[in-house]
Amino acid sequence: MTNRRKFLAAAGAAASVSMQAAPKLAIDGGEPVRQSALKADYWGTQFYDDKEKRELMDVLESKRPFRWYGPGKEPPMKVLTFEKEFAARMQTKYALAVPSGTAALVVAVNALGIGPGDEVILPAWTWHSCFNAIVLAGALPVFAEIDETFNIDPADIESKITKQTKAIMAVHLQGNPADVDRILPIARRHGLKVIEDCAQSCGASYKGRPVGSMGDIGIYSLQLNKTITSGEGGAVVTSDPVLFERAARFHDLGGLRAPHQQWLGTPQLETFIGSGYRMNEFTGGVLLAQVRKLDTIIGKVRANAKRVYDGVRDLPGIELRKLPDAAGELGTGVFIGFKNKERRDRFVAAMRSEGVPAAGPGGSVILPVQKHIENKVTVHPAWPSFTSERGRAIKYGEQCCPRTIAVLNRFGGVLMDPMFTAKDCADVVAAVRKVYPAVAG
Ligand SMILES: Cc1ncc(COP(=O)(O)O)c(C=O)c1O
Repeated sequence: MTNRRKFLAAAGAAASVSMQAAPKLAIDGGEPVRQSALKADYWGTQFYDDKEKRELMDVLESKRPFRWYGPGKEPPMKVLTFEKEFAARMQTKYALAVPSGTAALVVAVNALGIGPGDEVILPAWTWHSCFNAIVLAGALPVFAEIDETFNIDPADIESKITKQTKAIMAVHLQGNPADVDRILPIARRHGLKVIEDCAQSCGASYKGRPVGSMGDIGIYSLQLNKTITSGEGGAVVTSDPVLFERAARFHDLGGLRAPHQQWLGTPQLETFIGSGYRMNEFTGGVLLAQVRKLDTIIGKVRANAKRVYDGVRDLPGIELRKLPDAAGELGTGVFIGFKNKERRDRFVAAMRSEGVPAAGPGGSVILPVQKHIENKVTVHPAWPSFTSERGRAIKYGEQCCPRTIAVLNRFGGVLMDPMFTAKDCADVVAAVRKVYPAVAG
């Protein structure tokens, strides 16, 4: 309590706006909260040190950059060790390393046996990879709205289910876990699989369980913008041995290598036609060092986000982004709802003038309004996703996601960083406390 009081005091005179005349906003010629603009950075790379260097040197010196074999006696086994540690951290039986989050989605969709004639429900606001992985399997993507969590609205899922629906993509967007306790019962009731896309939320949890461990299969991106990173990278997790075997086989041309076979026990499947999504040992080494830092990174981001939440939540009338489990959220950004887009845009502009860059929700796109999606453009005109009666009839575009567009238009916020100092967080609080009352109306 004392700390909180001290912290609010450090947020400056602007913290007691109700007691004084409203300070003049920087956008109107007033003194800005900060002289130099605050900037959230790429999280994982800020933690690169001798540990990543050692892992890379190990691989270089071993001359075994390929995960399965090479010259010399002692294989470094970086990728395999990463897989084992990642699975343990995510509380799943198995993990498979792949070159990207997109590759992880392709592998997961194929592991579930999703193909032509099947439908998969996904949120209207997410990354291209989600839609593309479904289409690349020949299946049909069906959009559901998001709600004020910025994640798929469980209340909108059921009306999108048809006899052809095979899976739901529960995407945990911008660090915030989707409301899994509302999604899983719908899936189970209709016999659907759940793919958890944790690309933007690696390390987040929901009611004590790591995201990725609650559905049938989970995926992560380990690309530059993500919690931990090797520049590019991805992982698939599951506790189902058959799904892991299908994923491992699909990622390596249909075959199953000895280390994965040992992990699984007796194989249950025949070889089938798979693709090539193996990770190399350099990437595995960097990710091994990074996964050991995951909890440090998220501990710092969460603490910073908490400082900001605690510093602004008492503002009269404030609407914060909904968090189905506040303790499990990563704290990627602190977002506030406004009455309309005009007020949100004024907030964003005014915050920028204060030296605290704000923005609308980011890192994803409103997929149904993308021209190539509306026009169902694929690599071949006979692509099976859109040649069935359902595929021909389905309409994308604005009409399938008006609520998604409305939510994204009226929310604005500030991205957080693990390396923000207490003073940086106090500046965010001071700027919000100065700008919000002036623009919220
Ligand atoms: C929700 C979501 N899924 C999948 C991906 C794909 O990950 P990658 O960029 O590693 O291919 C991303 C990337 O940003 C993402 O945001």
